[in-house]
Amino acid sequence: MGRPKITVVGAGNVGGTTAQRLAEKDAYDVVLVDIVEGVPQGKALDISQAGPVCGYSTRVIGTNGYAETAGSSVAVITSGIPRKPGMSRDELLATNAKIVKSVVTELVSRAPEIILILVTNPLDVMVHVARRVSGLAKSRIIGMAGVLDSARMRTFIAAELNVPGTDVQAMVLGGHGDTMVPLPRYTTVKGRPVSELMSKEKLDAIVKRTRDGGAEIVGLLKTGSAFYAPSASAVDMVEAIVKDQKRVLPCAVLCEGEYGLKNVVVGVPVKIGRGGAEQIMEYELTVEERAALDASANAVQELCAAVDRLMT
Ligand code: NAI
Ligand code: 2OP
Repeated sequence: MGRPKITVVGAGNVGGTTAQRLAEKDAYDVVLVDIVEGVPQGKALDISQAGPVCGYSTRVIGTNGYAETAGSSVAVITSGIPRKPGMSRDELLATNAKIVKSVVTELVSRAPEIILILVTNPLDVMVHVARRVSGLAKSRIIGMAGVLDSARMRTFIAAELNVPGTDVQAMVLGGHGDTMVPLPRYTTVKGRPVSELMSKEKLDAIVKRTRDGGAEIVGLLKTGSAFYAPSASAVDMVEAIVKDQKRVLPCAVLCEGEYGLKNVVVGVPVKIGRGGAEQIMEYELTVEERAALDASANAVQELCAAVDRLMT
């Protein structure tokens, strides 16, 4: 049996870096797709040529079509456009929804068993769009945001306490935006609750910085948004699926009753394995945490209703 095929759609900052990180695992065949002629081909060639230096022999194919994606185990979808000056949120929503719709249709027609990891923003809504158009089981459509948002929180805590980020566990639920729900109660350092290790003021500041984590990087970069941590997070999810790791990761999936949420895509803890989103884990939440998750889910639901209107 050959290596599992992983397709990355969108050869921009997140997609290109995702393809590079996947190639460096030396465990997959990687297909990189973009609409811009030459870019996926050029990046694929460049990543391949790093192989002899870095010690991998991954086959990386760049293409403007979908024939090469046939039989993919997993696809990471990063294709989309950022919001431009003068562009309304609805216009961005409509454009990215159209892109995600066409990409998902192309992928699923050639790989009916595929598992999709959505990255394109607005993230939770794009998971909803992929669900609407793909006909795939809900376990096969997963949004990447919680792993990234939790990684940001872990990094800030690690810096504050002068410990390695790998020793910090954090959980961020909710939609990928202003209403996200970092959960300090489920945040620990080598098993110790973080609340025992720093003042409430410091923890509150870290929660706020986590919520604003994407904007902080946009503010620094000026053009474009984060891509190193986002691509690392997407690859973490790919590995959890392909290696059947059964890790519990915060991911955007359809909730149908879990956490009292009905028919809405939002970030929750999910057991990730070969079947994709195999089980939503229901953590016990306080009244305040539950209210914050409800508010976040409502914000996502409003955007989903807007995209439904735009797509009909
Ligand atoms: P980018 O602009 O560098 O790359 C996007 C790529 O998509 C471009 O190369 C473009 O040509 C391509 N593209 C556009 N339409 C396409 C189509 N129909 N088919 C194939 N490719 C197409 O953007 P970047 O920085 O890579 O971000 C990608 C997306 O990921 C954005 O929507 C961004 O907001 C989102 N994002 C989400 C994160 C999350 O946590 N969920 C984190 C970081 C980024
Ligand atoms: C981020 O959080 C832009 O959603 C992206 O960095």
